[in-house]
Order: sequence, then structure tokens, then C-alpha cells
Amino acid sequence: MKNATFSRRDWLRSSLTLASGAAVLPAAIGRGDFSTEQNIQWAAQSRLQELDFQLPLNPPAQVARLNANENPFGPSAKTRLAIMETAMQGNRYAHGEAATLRKLIAEREGVSEDYIMMGPGSTDLLEKTAITHFINGGNIVSADPAYMSLVNTAKSFKASWKNVPLKKDWSHDLAGMESAIDANTKLIYVCNPNNPTGSITEAKALRSFCEKVSSKVPVFVDEAYLEYLDDAMASSMVDLVAKGKNVIVARTFSKINAMAGLRVGYIVALPSTLKKIEDMVRGNMGMCITSVNAAIASIQDAEFHANSRKWTAEGREYLYQELKKMGINYVPSYTSFILFPIEMEGKAFLQKMYDSGVAVRSFLIDGKTYCRVSVGLKDELKLFTESLKKVMA
Ligand SMILES: Cc1ncc(COP(=O)(O)O)c(C=O)c1O
Repeated sequence: MKNATFSRRDWLRSSLTLASGAAVLPAAIGRGDFSTEQNIQWAAQSRLQELDFQLPLNPPAQVARLNANENPFGPSAKTRLAIMETAMQGNRYAHGEAATLRKLIAEREGVSEDYIMMGPGSTDLLEKTAITHFINGGNIVSADPAYMSLVNTAKSFKASWKNVPLKKDWSHDLAGMESAIDANTKLIYVCNPNNPTGSITEAKALRSFCEKVSSKVPVFVDEAYLEYLDDAMASSMVDLVAKGKNVIVARTFSKINAMAGLRVGYIVALPSTLKKIEDMVRGNMGMCITSVNAAIASIQDAEFHANSRKWTAEGREYLYQELKKMGINYVPSYTSFILFPIEMEGKAFLQKMYDSGVAVRSFLIDGKTYCRVSVGLKDELKLFTESLKKVMA
């Protein structure tokens, strides 16, 4: 989320400041009309603090980019071809192509096209959902730690956040989330599998939860990483939308399709929910014609999805074995990244890893430091484990 007066980066920086007790707080606050007190409360409220490490978001080519959960195996050959073939059509709006993509998505999800809204990445749709549901305030219920994009946008519309700690096994505390709902709850956000933990909440339990609570409050289920599961569709909540439940499912082409830089995502929701969004902001726009044609090629490329899944699982297994050898207790992952604890101050860790050519992320969760590493190419993973051994020695 980028706010004109107080960016997410500033928010994270103030979180870090609070976590570390460092003396830089005044630099991060007092930056205009965004309530400083509120930001301090948010930072203090969360179990999760990201360590803002002041390294480039776009590291140079020689650095292994294992910090943003990008898929290193693509885009697929068919996708690249579609991009090249579309270059000459850059003078045209993508209305017709977008309609084709929407139809393919609807077929895949088992719903009709009026249940689909697309946008430039799922971030766009997380934000649009937050804007339209929280323009008049209210509260949002989500797990903590969770992926914060939708929650942060909701907060910037003065919504309050009811954060329910993940359970000891890192799954959602669904009973706790249900009891957190009150008359002012406008949306529940569930990220499954979850980022930054990589953990999963069992589909059966989540399905009963959604069936029950969606009669009171809409449930937003962010399935960005779901397609890394072998039985993704069986674990998806999309069938509930098809059954008329007030559930919104978000998916992205950024992960299994390896199109993060091309920006295509979508939500599956009841036509009445999409109308609510469409009444305020325009849906199905914002994607460029090359990306739409790339997504049309990619969604039909089952072989690439299977390879992406297989290669990611192999990379995860390699990391598991290496971490085990180092005596590190990682969080079992259902995604393209792994979270594990480190016995070192996070900022210094990030700097040292970066100095040896590897970009990763670090978080404080309940005051304990963790590293999050994305699955990369074999050479990158080898460099990562070698660097980790050196840095932790
Ligand atoms: C859980 C989750 N949801 C949504 C997104 C946003 O992805 P995009 O905007 O690229 O679709 C991400 C990105 O990493 C994510 O981790």
C-alpha cells in the first residue's frame, strides 16, 4: 500500500523501530495527516514485524532473488511466445482479449463469467475489495501473522484490525476468528496457504468455517499459493462461491504461472459482490494486452504448471534437508517459500546474506527472528545454503 503521506515502507520502518526500541522513531512519524498514534498501535498490535533492511528491492542480476516468492522457472515458453506475438498490438485496448481470458478463468473455476473480476495482479483486487468494504470504517478479522496487503488498505480507511494469533501449528484459529466477529466486522481475511509462514489450514475445517460465517460476514480467501498443492482444486474454497456463499477467492498468475512482473490476478465472487466493487471502481481493467495474451497462453499450459509444482517441491525438499543438517526447525511449507528461525539479529543477518549474494527476508514473530527464503533455481539454493552456513557459523 502506498499512501501519499505515509507509505507502507514507513509503516514497516516504524514497526521495526518499535520492535527494536531504536531511537529513530521521530524520523518515521509526524509525516502528515496519517494518524501516527494509530500506526504505533498497529505496529504494537501485530505479532509480526518485518525487518526493513534498506537493501534494494530490485537487487542486481548477480544476487539470488530469494526474497519475493517469485517463480524462477518461467514464464513458460508458450507464454513468452504470446508476449512476443502481441508486441505489435500495443496500440489497442485489450477488451476482446480480456473477455477471452475471463471466459477461460470462469471455465477453470467452474463458475459463469459474471463471477470473475480480473486486474493487474491480485494486489489490485485485494485493495479494491478493501476500499469498497472499508470506505466507511468497520473492522477486519484476520490471522496474525498474515499477508498484510488487504488489512493495511482497510486500516488506511480507518478500519480496525482484529488480529487472531495463528495456532501453535501455524494454522488459522478458526474458532477464535469466529468469536472475533462483531456487528462492525465488514470482512474476514484468510490467506491459505499463509504468507509469511507457508503453513496451511486444513481445507475441510476452512470450508465449514466459510459456510458458517459467510452468512454473517463475507470471507475473503487469498489462494495465491494454493496451486503449489498437488490437489489444489480440492482445497480451494471456490466451490462455495459457486454454491452462492458470500466468499471471495483471490488467485494470481504471479506464482505457479511465473508472471509476477506481468501483473494478472483475479477474484471469484458473487455477482452482487462484484457489483459493489464495480459501482466504485472499474473492474477487469488495468491489464496490458501483452499480459492478457500471456495469461491466455499460460492458463492453458498445464505442463508448465505441473513442472513448476514439481521443481518447487524439489527445491523445498533440498532446503529441508540442508536446514535439517544444520539443526534448524523450519515451518513445514505448502508454498514456494520456507520460514525458519535464526539465532541472530535479523538486520545483520540480511546484510551478511546479501553481502554473500543472496537476498532473503527476515521477520520478528513474537520477538523471535525468522528468515523467509523463496525457492529458487538449484544454483541459487546452493548459494543460499552455503551462505547460511557461513553467516550462522
Ligand atoms: C498471499 C499473497 N497474496 C497476494 C499477493 C499479491 O500478488 P500479486 O499482486 O502479484 O498477484 C502475494 C504476493 O506475494 C501474496 O503473497
